[in-house]
Amino acid sequence: MQIARTIDDMKAARRRMRGRVGLVPTMGYLHEGHLVLARNSNRDNKFTVASIFVNPTQFGPKEDFAKYPRDPDRDCALLEREKVDVVFMPPGEEMYPPGFNTWVDVAGVTERLEGAIRPGHFRGVATVCNKLFNIVDPHRAYFGQKDAQQVVVIKKMAKDLNMNLEIVVVPTVRENDGLAMSSRNVYLSPDQRKAAAVLHQSLSLAREMWRNGERRAERMRQAMTGLIRKEPLAGPIDYLSIADAETLEELEEVERPAVVSLAVRFGPTRLIDNITLP
Ligand code: PAF
Repeated sequence: MQIARTIDDMKAARRRMRGRVGLVPTMGYLHEGHLVLARNSNRDNKFTVASIFVNPTQFGPKEDFAKYPRDPDRDCALLEREKVDVVFMPPGEEMYPPGFNTWVDVAGVTERLEGAIRPGHFRGVATVCNKLFNIVDPHRAYFGQKDAQQVVVIKKMAKDLNMNLEIVVVPTVRENDGLAMSSRNVYLSPDQRKAAAVLHQSLSLAREMWRNGERRAERMRQAMTGLIRKEPLAGPIDYLSIADAETLEELEEVERPAVVSLAVRFGPTRLIDNITLP
């Protein structure tokens, strides 16, 4: 496995690849969810490139960029075991040299949910993904459904800007109690970790209601909120949304593909999760 630390090295490695290339963009501190993305890419493509870059531009001034967990040696060992061909691990100044001043803004779908709470977050995500796509030039790029709004934003960007790649969305990987895998789960205390299972329980409740014929989104939101509020360590709820799967506009009736998503705080840690309906 090659480790490319500069854009020139990454581009040189890419020029040597003859065949389909899959890209797995990550911010490192890998868990099973990331490794499943790499396995999907290995299955679909001849070559897999994984990037590890904690992207400063997607963190707000009060967010955890400096504290974001990092363990590049462990990450590389895990990726080597998955038979990833190249790890692209650039330092910050390689991606954002002095004078960098070009941004990708996907309007509309970035204004709600995470975008409303984390202004500028998706501008950073879209910009860095656009740069990674240009540097690695993959045929496919792999993203987890866990970040549902990120997936909507990246797909919209790829479509609107006529990008020559396929965005592949891989189902969320969960712990035994249903908690979605996330690099941020390490911040939870043992009690908070146990309590966090309520997120998946509330999403499952929405799915159960839908399967039983309920279509009124407000009824589903109320039932989910009620369940989360019963868990003393959960809260506040930043948002709980039942929205159109493409536009992310809130629905009154769940009569078309929808994404049920939420963001809830457990102490200082903010967790997000979602399911899609049907
Ligand atoms: O999902 C992530 O880890 C990041 O948002 C991504 C896509 C790697 C961009 O920095």
